[in-house]
Amino acid sequence: MFEGKTVVVTGAGSGIGAAIARAFSRQGAKVCVSDLNLEAAQSVAKEIGALALQCDVRVEDNIAALVKDVEAAHGPIDVFISNAGLAMGEPQHAASASTEVWQLNWDVHVMSHVFAARAVLPEMITRGSGYLVNVASAAGLLNQIGDAAYSATKHAAVSFAESLAITHNDDGIDVSVVCPQYVATPLLSMNDDTEVTGSLISAEDVANCVIEGMKKKEFFILPHPQVSEFVALKATDHARWVAGMKDLRRKFLRESECGDLKEMHKFI
Ligand SMILES: NC(=O)c1ccc[n+]([C@@H]2O[C@H](COP(=O)([O-])OP(=O)(O)OC[C@H]3O[C@@H](n4cnc5c(N)ncnc54)[C@H](O)[C@@H]3O)[C@@H](O)[C@H]2O)c1
Repeated sequence: MFEGKTVVVTGAGSGIGAAIARAFSRQGAKVCVSDLNLEAAQSVAKEIGALALQCDVRVEDNIAALVKDVEAAHGPIDVFISNAGLAMGEPQHAASASTEVWQLNWDVHVMSHVFAARAVLPEMITRGSGYLVNVASAAGLLNQIGDAAYSATKHAAVSFAESLAITHNDDGIDVSVVCPQYVATPLLSMNDDTEVTGSLISAEDVANCVIEGMKKKEFFILPHPQVSEFVALKATDHARWVAGMKDLRRKFLRESECGDLKEMHKFI
């Protein structure tokens, strides 16, 4: 299904993005590995024989240039995967992250998806085909304890993906939003060598789910199947869901060795 297709992945110098780039390369796609960190992108691209391009997804002109350069090298873009992301946490209370950190979360997790859609949609609509994949998070459906800016902006990312699907599925454009829980990547101070157990999965697991989910054109790609149960509980008994999240937070504060978000997966 992806043989010969032109695929762009942002934030692909590391973690989930790198794993998705590798997975598409194995499928025979023409992949562009893009990242803010050019050296990291070049290293992944070299490994899989792909194109490496630097792009800061916060800057609309950077995304427009990325699209132009990929089109010049490989022809029209079939799949654009907006994956770049970050997690900064919050120093104290739920509003304590600085305004700059909130803005950064908004720019990287939401506006980058808007800029990508703006850059590729006109051509995809004309062609009557294309696929937009936005990597959000289970935090965009549920919540990330200890990071209100991450949770709020990932919710916005899910909402924007819904708008894309509602508006553009009839133009022949497919849309998926990827919502994992904890994945062993540098974002959580882990890497591909980290032993994954319980609710912690590998970046490769996520990439395989993305490929399989896209083959079925699933809107929600949920690498952790339990997320759909939590979403159903949140929708049907919100008070019970909030009570469960408060219990989880108390348990984490009581029992976590370092109090860092990278420990959270041990508690769910
Ligand atoms: N690791 C997890 O537990 C987890 C869970 C759910 C969702 N996610 C999401 O998955 C995506 C990938 O995260 P990851 O875990 O692989 O993290 P990672 O830190 O391994 O990789 C993120 C990549 O994004 C790049 N990046 C950051 N800001 C950028 C910018 N402005 N422009 C371009 N590139 C930029 C970084 O250089 C890095 O290579 C993110 O959107 C993240 O929110 C991660």
